[in-house]
Amino acid sequence: MRILVLLLLSCFATQALANEQAMQRFNQLNADPALRQQAYAAGQERTRFCGNCHGENGNSKRPHIPNLAQQNPVYLFNAFEKFASGERKDFVMSKLAPNLSADDRVNIAIYFAQQKLVPHTAPVDSALLAQGEVKFKTICTACHGAQAEGRENTPRLAGQPDEYLRKALTRFRDKDPSRAGSVMTTIAADFSDQDIVALAAYLQQLQP
Ligand code: HEC
Ligand code: HEC
Repeated sequence: MRILVLLLLSCFATQALANEQAMQRFNQLNADPALRQQAYAAGQERTRFCGNCHGENGNSKRPHIPNLAQQNPVYLFNAFEKFASGERKDFVMSKLAPNLSADDRVNIAIYFAQQKLVPHTAPVDSALLAQGEVKFKTICTACHGAQAEGRENTPRLAGQPDEYLRKALTRFRDKDPSRAGSVMTTIAADFSDQDIVALAAYLQQLQP
């Protein structure tokens, strides 16, 4: 038991350290336009392959794949850590993430965070929108922000494809092992299918 607790503590400590180092690196890059430009260019170079799925400019090419454009850089950075450690699983991403160095992860996060999200323009059912809005404003804004813009380590949800949002929320609710460690499993535990459909419909059309 004691060993387990120590192990857990050291996991949190490692994660906290990684966050802190990533933050320091981001701050350093943000403070220096020349360094930031270098990181951006390196990130762009490293993401050629990613563009097949996420789009060269981070606007996803398929509705089950998340947009990376305008996503919070610290969240992006940590997502690689989670895929690499196995805390989060995806057939492709779990293979790709371990091959990215710490610098790659920072550069890629900087590159995608600076891309512009293309807004969703197709009309959405207004009753569904209203239902999703109420649910979002009651439960989600404290962590994801009033406009779903996200916070440092909480993802932006505004403008994500609805199919991806439904898939993610359903997995959280069902405690699917691919994302079992996430705080979201508690939050989504009692969602109905209808709640998930409404939330996804609302979030996809929010604009950054
Ligand atoms: C074959 C398609 C494919 C390729 C290529 C691919 N991805 Fe992904 N990526 C996905 C899918 C699908 C997911 C969603 C996984 C899930 O549902 O958890 C994802 C998720 C992510 C996430 C998490 C986003 C979020 O909102 O949580 C990041 C970050 C990411 N990919 C970055 C990359 C980078 C960087 C590359 C290139 C090195 C890349 N991906 C290449 C399909 C792909
Ligand atoms: C206590 C804070 C908190 C609350 C409240 C919260 N979330 Fe989250 N959410 C998070 C965090 C942190 C993550 C990142 C989890 C991870 O990486 O596993 C996340 C991830 C997500 C994701 C996955 C995004 C992606 O790109 O893969 C979705 C979708 C989501 N939340 C939707 C919601 C919705 C909808 C609500 C309200 C019903 C909500 N969240 C409430 C903290 C919260």
